[in-house]
Amino acid sequence: MQDLRETYLARISGAADQAALEEVRLAALGKKGEISLKMRELGQMSPEERQTVGKALNELRNELDTALRAKKAALEDAALDERLKAEWLDVTLPARHRARGTIHPVSQVTEEVTAIFADMGFRVAEGPQIETDWYNFDALNIAPEHPARQEHDTFFMHRAEGDDRPPHVLRTHTSPVQIRAMQDQGAPIRVIAPGRVYRMDMDLTHTPMFHQVEGMAIGEDISMANLKWVLEEFFTAFFGTKVRTRFRASHFPFTEPSAEVDIQCSWEGGQLRVGEGDGWLEVLGSGMMHPKVLQAGGIDPDKWQGFAFGMGIDRMAMLKYGIPDLRAFFESDLRWLRHYGFGALEAPSVHAG
Ligand code: DAH
Repeated sequence: MQDLRETYLARISGAADQAALEEVRLAALGKKGEISLKMRELGQMSPEERQTVGKALNELRNELDTALRAKKAALEDAALDERLKAEWLDVTLPARHRARGTIHPVSQVTEEVTAIFADMGFRVAEGPQIETDWYNFDALNIAPEHPARQEHDTFFMHRAEGDDRPPHVLRTHTSPVQIRAMQDQGAPIRVIAPGRVYRMDMDLTHTPMFHQVEGMAIGEDISMANLKWVLEEFFTAFFGTKVRTRFRASHFPFTEPSAEVDIQCSWEGGQLRVGEGDGWLEVLGSGMMHPKVLQAGGIDPDKWQGFAFGMGIDRMAMLKYGIPDLRAFFESDLRWLRHYGFGALEAPSVHAG
């Protein structure tokens, strides 16, 4: 009995896998197993013998059964360990690329415009979208009774009852950044100021919020000729083809003289092409900065002069990328964003003219 016990315990602990272990189980406890056969021999024994041997056999069978179960569990654990090791994942590997958002055309074009003007020495200036009445109008030589105040369809902020100060406004253009940049940096100066502007206007071609970029260069002998060169250089780089400009006399309170600028285009077959043909498309307002505006910015108009211009960014995006409807820009329709959006790695295209 003791031999049987030792032999089988040794075989159980030595079993290398489930199959070997099953073989040991059958050899000991199977129908024709050694222990089972011994159990059968009990019938031929005397009652006293049967009692002691039967008890010992039962104990042996239980012990082997317990050892078999324990070994089985151990082999299963080992197999799982083995599998976990084989199927190990390196979670530090770079993930598979999954395209998610897109760069909005307004962001893309803002980057492009900024890059082109940066090449010409213009730095980006910023101002708040909630602006004081003074910066948005007075400092730009737009007097309280000036019709431009009405034309701008201004959104006014709330003032407490009895507070008679003029309310702040949502800036109606990026021009107030001219004043802030002059105050911050003095002259000479070359800046552009892209950003959001607001007007109470909503139809096919207008949205209550849209984007402009302001440009300003002040020096001792900056002239209209510099303005024309800078703008032609800009449009040519932006559209990637030589673009001529046409200046038409106009009026803005903050410039004297003032000019509206058209770019050359053709309309063949209903298809708009910039930089060819003999059509013209109005794209911006500009001029030589009014002495009062320089003064409001703390700059001496007897010593310094400069040009300024303001242009719609959304409009530029529509022209360059053939986007038909302005309102769709701000509807956040995923299909539109996927179609007209840009990949994160698409660098702004800045072609030399
Ligand atoms: N601020 C004008 C507008 O929103 C655009 C503009 C015209 C800006 C002439 C200028 C400028 O700097 O010189 O309509």
